[in-house]
Amino acid sequence: MIGVLCSGQGTNLQAIIDAIAAGRVNARIGVVISDRSDAFALTRATAAGIPACWIDPKSFPIRGAFEQAMIQTLRARRVQLVCLAGFMRLLSPVFVRAFPRRILNIHPALLPAFPGAHGVRDALTWGAKVTGVTIHFVDEQVDHGPIVLQEALAIQSGEREAELVKRVHAIEHRLYPEAIQLIAEGRVRVDGRRVTIRSAGSVHRPPSTVHKK
Ligand code: GRF
Repeated sequence: MIGVLCSGQGTNLQAIIDAIAAGRVNARIGVVISDRSDAFALTRATAAGIPACWIDPKSFPIRGAFEQAMIQTLRARRVQLVCLAGFMRLLSPVFVRAFPRRILNIHPALLPAFPGAHGVRDALTWGAKVTGVTIHFVDEQVDHGPIVLQEALAIQSGEREAELVKRVHAIEHRLYPEAIQLIAEGRVRVDGRRVTIRSAGSVHRPPSTVHKK
């Protein structure tokens, strides 16, 4: 069961919803949480029949209480994997430890290059010739955890930010569902910073699930 945290448009959420509907991702979304009442992601969730939940950070005296509310909501929905999809708040170590190695983030640049809230713009401003998309596990530092998948794209000469954002999004919408499916299939192993993706045939299954009586 997946929980998706969003703050905005939710185009990545939509890509995950569509991939599940198309049978490309073998998982379910138990809840979509947003910290903003006006996030279009909430509308997308409701349209797809997924519980959509606005948790207002301003209604809590401290960040810890806001995060506890999110943790409780995710646990109540039996969420095993938390997917950050444009969630614009930093998560504390308490939240990260509540779902160890079970929080994914998508970042619109090739980490560790251009971390932060403006990955696409920063790559353009820097004059980088190549940028891309990173899907990584979340650890206690920002845009830092072990990398599951990355895909590069060449920046075209004179390319404007809006055009580059479009091309980055197109990669994101394919790559995020792919990463989730790899995890759902049990093919992702994390060893320190290194993530190994096992080939489809090599996943060990316990005998009880292989030899059904
Ligand atoms: C994406 O570009 C993602 O990489 C970044 O935030 C953006 C979210 O877009 N973390 P959307 O809300 O999924 O459309």
